[in-house]
Amino acid sequence: SSTASKDADGVLHVGGLAIPDLVADVNTPAYVLDEDDFRARARAFRDAFEGVDVYYAGKSFLCTTVARWIAEENLFLDVCSDGELTVALRGGVEAERIGYHGNNKTPMELRRAIVLGVGRIVVDSFHEIKRVAAIAAETGVPARVMVRVTAGVEAHTHEFIATAHEDQKFGFSISSGDAFEAARRVIAADGVELLGLHSHIGSQIFDTAGFEVAARRVLALHARIASELGVVLPEMDLGGGFGIAYTSQDDPKPAAELAAGMREIVVHECRALGIEEPRLSIEPGRAIVGPTMCTVYTVGTVKQVQLDGGAVRTYISVDGGMSDNIRTALYDADYSCTLASRASSAEPVLARVVGKHCESGDIVVKDEFLPGDVAPGDLIAVPGTGAYGRSMASNYNHALRPPVVAVKDGQARVIVRRETVDDLLATDIG
Ligand code: LLP
Repeated sequence: SSTASKDADGVLHVGGLAIPDLVADVNTPAYVLDEDDFRARARAFRDAFEGVDVYYAGKSFLCTTVARWIAEENLFLDVCSDGELTVALRGGVEAERIGYHGNNKTPMELRRAIVLGVGRIVVDSFHEIKRVAAIAAETGVPARVMVRVTAGVEAHTHEFIATAHEDQKFGFSISSGDAFEAARRVIAADGVELLGLHSHIGSQIFDTAGFEVAARRVLALHARIASELGVVLPEMDLGGGFGIAYTSQDDPKPAAELAAGMREIVVHECRALGIEEPRLSIEPGRAIVGPTMCTVYTVGTVKQVQLDGGAVRTYISVDGGMSDNIRTALYDADYSCTLASRASSAEPVLARVVGKHCESGDIVVKDEFLPGDVAPGDLIAVPGTGAYGRSMASNYNHALRPPVVAVKDGQARVIVRRETVDDLLATDIG
């Protein structure tokens, strides 16, 4: 449903606005966000998963305006720090519609979340269970809790491992018995209510089989808690991780299909176990915001580099890089890109789009065929940068983090402004 398209002159338009016109106002690099597309994707999840609470994962991208859209579109919100919580509340998301994650929330963060009446705190360690119970006792404010479990499933893109090692920091292991023990302790604690179990199996997942295996294992624990502890937990969360298309190779499933598959497995398993279905929730971040943004850069230099074997690669340097998109360097992620400011009939060449940072791994797009006449001053757009782009941006090399510009009906609105050198100097005590 993205409204990005090129006109007859090869100029890219987003949300009814020509990218060169937008750039004339806000300069580059800039993240351009299609508001209608964001709202449509949020609604698609909400509607497809009717009867399932959809928590937008704020870590993928959050600012006050986006939090407001989430509230307006009637979604829930997942946060994992006091900063995200503050922005969520500022955008008008009600505390009780917020879930709070993290393997090491500080005592201050926990206290604030509990006192504000956050809807659910996802506990991740025995220490944290103690801490939550102590805060609830001390403040007299009851805490609502989910227990993060490790289902032994790890899923990435097209593969999942049903016997994944559990050597990672998140959650209580189901297989070791820790998850059951965590649930037992939460149930036993005064002032703490256990809402349910929570599982998150990975990122950029296309193959839903991983969710099925995880759901089965989590439901088995859910049933054991009912039979041995006599507590039927009202809720269950299966996390996020739904994949999106970064390149033409990727073919993600629509939300409705995911929803149908997930609901089916839960209904089926609950029937088999003879238990009542818990109310389900999920936490998509990337699948909502990822496709709604592109990053626009200006080309600064072009260089041909001779490769071993005689081939030539064209290096196109743009005015951003790993400070506004760390994902290529960090995860070896694939992106595509396009010439956004004009048409070209030049023969395509194999190009690599790189940033301006002092590091050879500073790559934005590893391989893309771009017109051979790309030159300084041209605009390049990289689609699909909405998730974990701005949210993982850094000030490496004292880069100024780019603005986020929301476009709707041909109108641009800056919702996160570009940083200035003064912003950097504000924290630098000289
Ligand atoms: N729920 C939990 C508990 C999570 O840990 C995450 C992501 C999500 C939901 C949202 O996942 P999504 O639907 O956005 O895939 N920074 C990385 C991915 C790390 C995500 C961590 N947790 C990236 O750029 O791909």
